[in-house]
Order: sequence, then C-alpha cells, then structure tokens
Amino acid sequence: MKDTTYRTAHTDFSRELSYGDYLRLDALLEAQQPLTKAHDEVLFIVVHQVQELWMKLIIHELTSAMALLEEGVVDPALKMLSRVCRAQEQMSQSWEVLTTMTPADYLEFRWAFGKASGFQSYQYRLIEFLLGNKQPFMMRPHRHRPEYGRLERALHSPSLYDLSLRLLHRRGLSIPSEVLARDFAQPYQPHPAVAEAWLAVYRQTERYWELYYLAEKLVDVEENFRRWRFNHLTTVERTIGHKQGTGGTAGVPYLRRALEVVLFPELWQVRTLL
Ligand code: HEM
Repeated sequence: MKDTTYRTAHTDFSRELSYGDYLRLDALLEAQQPLTKAHDEVLFIVVHQVQELWMKLIIHELTSAMALLEEGVVDPALKMLSRVCRAQEQMSQSWEVLTTMTPADYLEFRWAFGKASGFQSYQYRLIEFLLGNKQPFMMRPHRHRPEYGRLERALHSPSLYDLSLRLLHRRGLSIPSEVLARDFAQPYQPHPAVAEAWLAVYRQTERYWELYYLAEKLVDVEENFRRWRFNHLTTVERTIGHKQGTGGTAGVPYLRRALEVVLFPELWQVRTLL
C-alpha cells in the first residue's frame, strides 16, 4: 500500500518559523570549527560542546531548584534535581564516544589549541560553586569575561547544601547559627550538629519524608559528579598519560586530587553513624 502519511506535512517555511529557525541550528552547527585537518578534531569539539550544553541545562535546573528550596517548595525542586542527575548521566556517557580517539589521534591536533582547556570552562566552575566547591582561584581565567560577575555572585551566595541546611532548620532540626550564617565564599566545614540533624532525618524517615528524599537526591548528584570526574580522569590518562595539561596544571595528579572533593560531607558521614 502506498504510504501517504507524510503528504500533509508542512513544507513551505519561507514565512514561518521552522525547526532550524527555532533551534538556531545555523549558529549551532556553525560552531564546530576545527583548527586542523585531523579527522578526530571534529569528535573532540562535538563532545565538549555537547557536555557544555548539558551543563547549561544543569545550571538552569540547579538554580531553579535552589530558588524553590529557599522558598520551602520541596517537591518541584526534587523533580529538577532528578533532571540534573539524568543530565549528569548523559555527560558521563559522552566518554564512551571519546575513548575511540587514541593518543596518536589526539596528538595530531593537540598543538593547535594552545593553552585552551576544560579548566577554563565557566559553566563547570559555576556548577561547582552552586554545589559548594568554591575555590576563588578558579575564577581567574574568567577575569576578562562578562560572566565573571555571575561566578563572583555564586561564590558569595549559599550553595545547594547551605540552602538544604536552612530548610532542615526551618523544619525544626537544629542547625547552629555559625553554620547558617557562615561566610559562603569559604569552603564548607562539616559540623557534628549537622550530622546529628541528618541522622534524625534518616532515623525518622516517615516524619521527615521530604528531607529524607532531598538527602538521597543530593547524594545522587554528588555520586554522579564523582563518576564524571573519574571517567574524565580515566579518559585523560589513557589519552595523554602523565603529561601536563594544556591548561597548565599537573594533569592527571591534579584531576586525581579533585576526586577527593566531598560536597555534602555529613550525608556521607550519616551512613556510618546509622
Ligand atoms: C581526550 C580528551 C581530554 C583530555 C586529554 C583532557 C585533559 C584535561 C586535563 C589535563 C585537565 C586538567 C587541567 C589542565 O588542562 O591542565 C582537564 C580539565 C578539565 N576538563 Fe578535560 N580533557 C579531555 C576531555 C574533556 C571533555 C570532553 C570535557 C567536557 C567538557 C572536559 C572538561 C574538563 C573540565 C571541566 C576540566 C576542569 C576540571 C577541574 O578543574 O576539576 N575535558 N582536562
């Protein structure tokens, strides 16, 4: 039988918004501009850009979830954090494609992009700041850029974890004032009273169901972040070994140190305490 199911499709977009117009595909697909003729450079650019797009979504979801938590609106915030987790999983999946690039393939174009490195990813730093891993040094590559202001605001604002602790306090679990009113630009310091508060949540899950669910969602986000870091590290090691990074760090040793970062310390402690 002849297929006519597509015959009613719209085909004149000379005066209408088309798929490509709406998605700005001209700009998007123009943005892959290899600097060499090396076959694998296109892959390298695409995998970075795809991850930056996922980061864009993660920032959108995280900032909205944080605003909701601040208002005490938990369920929709949890839904957004679930989406953050899915996007993180997609980012981690990208390494599968990138590992088809061998060290020899990479050396064909590595020289071309000079000192450029993911170390200078503004969105990655913003996500780290939103999640509480605040290191002011990391803002330096962005000093000349308009987005510097947003990084600075995030540095001085409460992180996702700070907002979660405020919520715990508002729900009657005692969080000390030195934690609630701390200097947000400083790295978070674990506090025994915070561990006690989470312990109460985990011991009385029915009473604190929302907070319990929030806690597990935070652990999901941190676990996914760790996976991303680990997969990145492994991809880096198999591609450049122990060479210095193009961004100027020690490379693998630097990335290995980053694996030690703990975002939500008491949520990990509570597992031992239970
Ligand atoms: C073969 C591919 C890759 C290699 C060899 C590589 C190498 C490195 C190295 C050596 C560093 C440490 C900083 C420096 O350059 O000195 C770094 C950091 C980073 N890379 Fe990659 N990378 C690769 C792929 C990617 C991809 C696809 C992304 C996705 C966006 C990415 C994102 C990052 C980020 C965000 C950092 C900063 C991490 C931090 O400061 O904790 N990298 N990369």
